[in-house]
Amino acid sequence: MDLELSAVQRGARDTARRFAREKLEAIGVECDRSHEFPAVAIKELGKLGFLGTFLPEKFGGAGLDQVAYALVVEELAVACASTAVIVSAHCSLASWPILGLGSDAMKARFLPKMAAGEWLGCFALTEPQAGSDAAGQKTRAVRDGDSYVINGTKNFITNGPQAGAAIVFAMTAPEQGHHGISAFAVETQSPGWSVVRVEDKMGIHGAHSAQLSFSDMRVPRENLIGAEGEGFKVAMKTLDGGRIGIAAQAVGIARASLEASLKYSQERQTFGHPLARHQAIQFKLADMAVNVDAARWLTLNAAALKDAGRPCTRESAMAKLFAAETAMKAATEAVQIHGGYGYTREFKVERYFRDAKITEIYEGTSEIQRLVISGQVLGH
Ligand code: CAA
Repeated sequence: MDLELSAVQRGARDTARRFAREKLEAIGVECDRSHEFPAVAIKELGKLGFLGTFLPEKFGGAGLDQVAYALVVEELAVACASTAVIVSAHCSLASWPILGLGSDAMKARFLPKMAAGEWLGCFALTEPQAGSDAAGQKTRAVRDGDSYVINGTKNFITNGPQAGAAIVFAMTAPEQGHHGISAFAVETQSPGWSVVRVEDKMGIHGAHSAQLSFSDMRVPRENLIGAEGEGFKVAMKTLDGGRIGIAAQAVGIARASLEASLKYSQERQTFGHPLARHQAIQFKLADMAVNVDAARWLTLNAAALKDAGRPCTRESAMAKLFAAETAMKAATEAVQIHGGYGYTREFKVERYFRDAKITEIYEGTSEIQRLVISGQVLGH
């Protein structure tokens, strides 16, 4: 990987950083309190081109690469982890499979609306009984003439209530296990699509995770992504990229934890000195800084491989695993450095702590990342 960022990549990062500082910081605080979807932020991000960062310009995207995209998601996550995951699920999980694996007609139909933010995207893979074991799908898609009729339930779907477009996975041949799963691009105004409930979660309150239900939802045959039975591979390839987005989100939360700790430890006095003069605190700050940089390099390395069209399964799992654990450790230390104040809502570090946890769970738990990485290094 070329270790120097290009002017375009730095430009995207700096634009996102400015937006995060000037507007998103306050929205991040507010949507955590209100649990409201940050609609204003998402609209502004559409105008800035960040809902289509890596989509080609002919589809209304910004035409940038995955490295620029990872840098943008990190900046958003420093201010508001909810907004970062809304963008990541929309771009990596919903737009990418259409761009990378969909037909030309599908790209023309979906991508301009997604790049503009007219349609937010979601990724409907997880089911009540199929989380880590993603192949255990119960949702059924039955061919009927020129369409498929889909019935089933999906759980914890980020952007589910707001989505205009969805990538839906369903069994077309249940007897064939993971070879019987197919993937569909779905317009959510289709009759039969419904949002059952929105989960009440520990963190990322502005990003709504929904249970969805499909009741005789009819989807045209041309909305199949790839061939019938290729859906599990569509899901895995998509998650290779999605994990880069979540890794970037985790780097952002970890960096926010470090920045808050640097500020507080130079202001707060104990035993006649600022906290930052105590070696116990200095060591915590040093470890946080090392891990934030390491997590970012793992993330950008995975993004650069994806940009080069090279396999990145191992690297994106490594980035996601390390960055998520870094976010959790950094947020824990940030609360510790802030002491009793860190446990109150007056300081943002308690939010970082709650938001960090989910990065170890969604888009594959840390245990699943270790399975993927061990499979890759053992050559299984
Ligand atoms: N790319 C392409 N193909 C892949 C692949 C990849 N990265 N990983 C696996 N495959 C293929 C394999 O080659 C194999 O193909 P063949 O059968 O043709 O040989 C097939 O997929 C099955 O592979 P495995 O035997 O390894 O599959 P498995 O059932 O053991 O599962 C797993 C593997 C890694 C555990 C997978 O189930 C997994 O990733 N689970 C976690 C699911 C997950 O991340 N869910 C997150 C939901 S999305 C979310 O959180 C969204 C949100 O809203 C934020």
